Amino acid sequence: MKKIRAGVIGCTGMVGQRFIQLLENHPWFRLTALAASSRSAGKPYEEAVAGRWYMATPIPEDVKNMPVYDALADMDKIVDAVDFVFCAVNMSGEEIIALEQAYAKKECPVISNNKQHRAFDDVPMVIPELNPEHIQVIETQRRRLGARKGFVAVKSNCSLQSYVPVLHPLLDCGVTKVLACTYQAISGAGKTFATMPEIVDNVIPYIGGEEEKSELEPLKIWGHVENGVIVNAQTPAITTQCFRVPVSDGHMAAVFMSLEKKLSVEEIIRRWEGFQAPEAVRALPSAPKQFIHYFTEPDRPQTKLDRELEGGMAISVGRLRPDTQYDYKFVCVSHNTLRGAAGGGVLLAELLYSQGYID
Ligand SMILES: NC(=O)c1ccc[n+]([C@@H]2O[C@H](COP(=O)([O-])OP(=O)(O)OC[C@H]3O[C@@H](n4cnc5c(N)ncnc54)[C@H](OP(=O)(O)O)[C@@H]3O)[C@@H](O)[C@H]2O)c1
Repeated sequence: MKKIRAGVIGCTGMVGQRFIQLLENHPWFRLTALAASSRSAGKPYEEAVAGRWYMATPIPEDVKNMPVYDALADMDKIVDAVDFVFCAVNMSGEEIIALEQAYAKKECPVISNNKQHRAFDDVPMVIPELNPEHIQVIETQRRRLGARKGFVAVKSNCSLQSYVPVLHPLLDCGVTKVLACTYQAISGAGKTFATMPEIVDNVIPYIGGEEEKSELEPLKIWGHVENGVIVNAQTPAITTQCFRVPVSDGHMAAVFMSLEKKLSVEEIIRRWEGFQAPEAVRALPSAPKQFIHYFTEPDRPQTKLDRELEGGMAISVGRLRPDTQYDYKFVCVSHNTLRGAAGGGVLLAELLYSQGYID
């Protein structure tokens, strides 16, 4: 089988490194271009990440000597070398919109982990198990951009990746109110304990912009397509607090919820364990066999023990019990740079390829 050529923009960063790790031996995609800022451009990859390769596995042999391009100045070379790109960069909002649209207009599809395109109603923000049908708005976006093949599709924020999948199988029972407190890993800020010493023995009760994203983005994921664009859902009402905690990888959420239709604990767990993505999504190479895992042990899920479940692509949940103020409360965990970033991006690219949006 001829493999589809993939590029990684932001290849030296925390998420970019995950993409490189996940693309090693990918059955459908092969890495053919790397890009970052002018600071890294012109260097072989190994040199560009010297002293800052954060993955537990070594840099793939065939990637070590690949040249790093400048994402802006070398755009034409990159577009020639790939069929699509993943994008995870730290730039200003305006620069990211301009960068991603420029690639799309040059007929290069962009799978983005950046937040800037998430609010556009013709840009699909997809968790493939939950809202794969949103990719159809790409046709509207292509008309806006004047592109035939190019487009931007986005991943949602990593903070909500644990609780949105768990609430999803209950939506038909009228989830009215959600309160979520998240306990988020430092890799979510592109950091390690060496580069974020202030987190050791500490909790920081603020992550800029995170609470807004955690409250708004679920409503787009649960929205519907109307006249070629996504119309956000109106409910549930969501309120959040997001904390940075001294954990390398994995975001935990403590969640409270109210339901219109009362369900028993057993019924909720049955819905979680029985939740099935559409067949076309379950068949994708990076899809977990079981999306939601329920733990009966009172002290699970734990970030360190459970973040790698099913290659970091599954969601762990436990401690479901009645609450005195809301109907129920529970705890859930997902891996922020796998399911919440690069892994979710690869799964989205697989969906888009399987549905003919990337070729
Ligand atoms: N970490 C997570 O868990 C996570 C989860 C979801 C979404 N995200 C999002 O993903 C994006 C990247 O996050 P990260 O944690 O990987 O950040 P990071 O580790 O700081 O890496 C940032 C990357 O952006 C590149 N870059 C910076 N300025 C650039 C420019 N002017 N032109 C081209 N490339 C440039 C850097 O290249 P140089 O090395 O050359 O500077 C580096 O490759 C952010 O938008 C973030 O919000 C992250």
